[in-house]
Amino acid sequence: MQSSQFINDSSIKSENSLIGKRGPFSSLNNKLNFDDKRFHDWYRFVLSYPAHLVKKYIQEFCNDGNDIVLDPFCGTGTTLVEAKLNGVVSVGIEANPFAHFASSTKINWKISSIELLQCANEIANLVRYELSQSGIDDNDPTTLKKGFHPRVLEPELEKIILKNSISPIPLHKTLLLLDKINSYSKKDFYPHLLLALAKSTVFKASNLKFGPEVGLGKIKENVPVVEPWLGEVNSIADDISSISGSNHKESNAYLGDSRQASALIKPKSISAIITSPPYPNEKDYTRTTRLESVLLGFIKSKEELRQFKKTLIRSNTRGVYKGDDDHQWIENHPEIKNIADQIEARRIELKKTSGFERLYSKVTLLYFGGMAKHLKELHPILKPGARLAYVVGDQASYLRIMIRTGEILADIAQRLGYRVDRIDLFRTRFATATGEQLREEVVILTWPGNKL
Ligand SMILES: C[S@@+](CC[C@H](N)C(=O)[O-])C[C@H]1O[C@@H](n2cnc3c(N)ncnc32)[C@H](O)[C@@H]1O
Repeated sequence: MQSSQFINDSSIKSENSLIGKRGPFSSLNNKLNFDDKRFHDWYRFVLSYPAHLVKKYIQEFCNDGNDIVLDPFCGTGTTLVEAKLNGVVSVGIEANPFAHFASSTKINWKISSIELLQCANEIANLVRYELSQSGIDDNDPTTLKKGFHPRVLEPELEKIILKNSISPIPLHKTLLLLDKINSYSKKDFYPHLLLALAKSTVFKASNLKFGPEVGLGKIKENVPVVEPWLGEVNSIADDISSISGSNHKESNAYLGDSRQASALIKPKSISAIITSPPYPNEKDYTRTTRLESVLLGFIKSKEELRQFKKTLIRSNTRGVYKGDDDHQWIENHPEIKNIADQIEARRIELKKTSGFERLYSKVTLLYFGGMAKHLKELHPILKPGARLAYVVGDQASYLRIMIRTGEILADIAQRLGYRVDRIDLFRTRFATATGEQLREEVVILTWPGNKL
């Protein structure tokens, strides 16, 4: 299949353009292979990039046995897990505390699957017993005593989660299960028990649905909680036992802001970056993980939520703060300024006056400024010759003004001394708002070292 069938030709820059050649169309899509699921499926963001895409770039970039791959926006850890599965040392940075917990747990394979299962079964039996004392059979939604007082969240926490995220009875059962899991907090597999609970709660017990934004789906008044959790623990145990006896390369995830990466990572240590940063698309990653963040204690107040939002690249108007100044990193970039001006002009033309709409142009400047700051921050930690792959998508979320994220990012990178090797097309999706195909692309760069 030729790339021209998928790409709007008018948007392809010539050989002389700032960005490098476009790579051939990649037939890789979002379908998951069997191997994309092992370890990855312990918990993953809906629509996070597939493991086989990461593998392709690991194979291209890592070939001397001493490579270290960095994912500066590691989310739920696809790059880290895939690097480990492919025998490459890796390190990640993630600003969302729950996502950081998920990726850290997914790369922790040094636990006993037998002990994990034994403990999980004990917990399950205890919870079932305690539920039965209140007349509840976890698997039978009809068994509920009248006058039963379920466990509830503290009012402050209740305010942080999306209303009706989870119905009272599944919440009660989840909190009881969590209580029992917490009594094993000294065990090395404690994080695995919690991660399994996060996954089963969000995807089985809660009322949430993802598409890709998080919203409310069917309200589930009463669904089983213990069995789905045990199912997740079993999958984790299966994956662990499938690799028992093998040696795996080290992987670490830091909780932090990748615009300050050099404070976390050793100088000249990184030989490859494979990552999918946020895009300027109004997606609020803190909403996506809100229920599990609150239930497992990663966010305890509105103030904590606000503090961690400040460590994120600005990619939506709900995460813009007074004093934000990342736009200064792209002050001399006419194309970005032009896009921001177009968004603002369209807003005025359409008489859109809400506080959020007024911020659309600003968030675009802050987004690319933040990415520029991040790319500059990488300079000291990259080995000369390091290869980089940034998976980003075109967007038209702001009053339908097209933002060619990949092209702009490539341009920013080039101005910061990176060589732009090519831009691979990963997949396209049809945007109903504009009637155009939006590209999700992989910007491939090389860091030549400081002496250009
Ligand atoms: C598209 S997601 C990455 C998904 C990831 N590839 C995975 O496998 O789950 C982007 C991630 O960047 C994180 N992020 C945003 N700003 C950040 C920052 N300044 N430093 C570190 N992580 C950040 C978000 O919390 C989110 O988890």
